[in-house]
Amino acid sequence: MTDGPDKKPLRSAAWFGRQDKMGFYYRSFLKNRGFPQDQFEGRPVIGICNTWSELNPCNSHFRTIAEHVRWGVLDAGGFPLEFPVSSLGEVTMRPTAMLYRNLAAMDVEEAIRAHPLDGVVLLMGCDKTTPALMMGAASADLPAIGVSGGPQLRGVYRGQIIGSGTNIISMSEQLRAGEITIDEFHEAEAGMNRSSGHCMTMGTASTMASMVEALGFGLPENAAIPATDARRNHLARMAGRRIVEMVGEDLTPSKILTRPAFENAIRALAAIGGSTNAVVHLLAIARRVGVDLTLDDFDRFGRAVHCLVDLMPSGRFLMEDFYYAGGLPVVLKTLAERDLLHRDALTVNGRSIWENVAGATCWNAR
Ligand code: FES
Repeated sequence: MTDGPDKKPLRSAAWFGRQDKMGFYYRSFLKNRGFPQDQFEGRPVIGICNTWSELNPCNSHFRTIAEHVRWGVLDAGGFPLEFPVSSLGEVTMRPTAMLYRNLAAMDVEEAIRAHPLDGVVLLMGCDKTTPALMMGAASADLPAIGVSGGPQLRGVYRGQIIGSGTNIISMSEQLRAGEITIDEFHEAEAGMNRSSGHCMTMGTASTMASMVEALGFGLPENAAIPATDARRNHLARMAGRRIVEMVGEDLTPSKILTRPAFENAIRALAAIGGSTNAVVHLLAIARRVGVDLTLDDFDRFGRAVHCLVDLMPSGRFLMEDFYYAGGLPVVLKTLAERDLLHRDALTVNGRSIWENVAGATCWNAR
């Protein structure tokens, strides 16, 4: 775990291991937080890269998730340091959050490079935060693990299940047609977004959280655990523990984000009926690790894959239902059983993707 004789020296030792004027600076200023001297002696320093923002409601619960990651890092003997990066929220940001994705990726990459970090946990949720953080971390290529914030609970309005985006469009048309009142419209707004988390249809945020899992960049079940389910916090804590081990193993993004991993992600994207925005983001992430992914690959690997889930906007259910039905591990297992998955692709927990999903069970095949 630490920089023993057979281990690569900790990167952070170039800051905290110095016994000179600069070492005094680096340690002394952090000691104002109450960290004792032994905190700086061989503990992997883990950055918790946080996209919390009140301007990004989908990520507004991330302070809580960050605390669970912090406890996990401490459990494993690491030294957690949380830091903010740009947070891109789809709903209020003009003209479009996509305009800033690459800027956010630069923010993440440079923040990681500039600081005494040995590994990073990436907290991401609303659409563009996931590719931005993955792109930045991939370029920095320090051990990194993705933790998604999780989807909201199902939207409910007067006994009807309503989904983000899908029912906003239909109800705004109903309002224009005089079929519902403005008071009913306002009531539905509150019913749709009734919990923390990102959009709970298979929109871009849920798709990209699924890509994190399919690529092996997040722990199993990362895609679908609702934001308010305690198991989302369990996952965050386990990620905090695991990143400390990953530093010891020097398990970097370039070892996870391989060509087979992207081919798995393309097939998973087809199997979940995911957002076409994922094409743009996966291509950008691949380029950061030197994988020559092309548009033709999406046709070549996705063409033969049937859609296996029944989620809005094209289907009937929502991410909460997907989680209760077994979530992405069931989809990945089904792909493997149809010879549509590279089973040996390595994931952040040190196991192959097949080892992660072989025991998955579907609890709702309707
Ligand atoms: Fe943030 Fe939909 S607005 S995920």
